[in-house]
Amino acid sequence: MPTTFTLNGAQQTLDAPPEMPLLWAVRDLAGLTGTKYGCGVGLCGACTVHVDGEAVRACLVTLDEVDGKTVTTIEGLDPEGEHPVQRAWRELNVPQCGFCQAGQIMQAASLIAAKPDITDAEILEGMRGNVCRCGCYQRIVAAVRHAAT
Ligand code: FES
Repeated sequence: MPTTFTLNGAQQTLDAPPEMPLLWAVRDLAGLTGTKYGCGVGLCGACTVHVDGEAVRACLVTLDEVDGKTVTTIEGLDPEGEHPVQRAWRELNVPQCGFCQAGQIMQAASLIAAKPDITDAEILEGMRGNVCRCGCYQRIVAAVRHAAT
């Protein structure tokens, strides 16, 4: 049975197995490859997207779980790339290799939307599930702080 949901502001109907991970649906069926596959088991955060505004790991969410919901990927966070987190990422030159950055940005955007006056401790706690192999953690925390101010 097809799954219908809103993807980056447009209605999307996908005829795919209901148990398909949202990550594959977004990347392989919808063609939105900004969301990355890192571990596939919810441990790295590279696949982070928003479902009804909440940051989730797209490798752990199945297609049937988003039926009727709103999914936002990095491509839809701000079509112009001007979300405060994206601006902060550019201004502080956060990425190194860049692979984890879409997930980092989606996690950060969700955090500051929920708590605009977020503290450093809350940033560290909120971002701890997003792994960066290049070790850009100091710049990531600084950029989240910058975006929240
Ligand atoms: Fe989903 Fe690593 S690919 S958490």
